Amino acid sequence: MHISIQFMPSGKTVKVRRGTTVLRAARDARIHIATRCGGNAGCLMCKVKVDEEHGKALTPPTASELRKLGPLLEQGVRLACQAKICGDTAVNVPEDPLKAAIRKQLEQRNEDLW
Ligand code: FES
Repeated sequence: MHISIQFMPSGKTVKVRRGTTVLRAARDARIHIATRCGGNAGCLMCKVKVDEEHGKALTPPTASELRKLGPLLEQGVRLACQAKICGDTAVNVPEDPLKAAIRKQLEQRNEDLW
């Protein structure tokens, strides 16, 4: 049986098998989530944010997430490489910091032109 996950802010949705990691689902949806550790909970680059309701459709935090995310877990932060999907859900993928910086500069430039 397939379940779906929606990636915000793009709104892209993909159907996956139960137990698929959020990172694998993102790749299936062609959503870029940065990684450096190959999905081993080592780089902490794959953070996504999930609200309380949608968080219930993910597996509970792994020991690695508990150790490495600590209080961020209470704010809905999960590691995409560790969280597995067990029901229809949605996650928010933060904007890449480099892209965010470029976007801000372009917005500022456009404001200056007006
Ligand atoms: S991919 Fe490195 S912590 Fe998830």
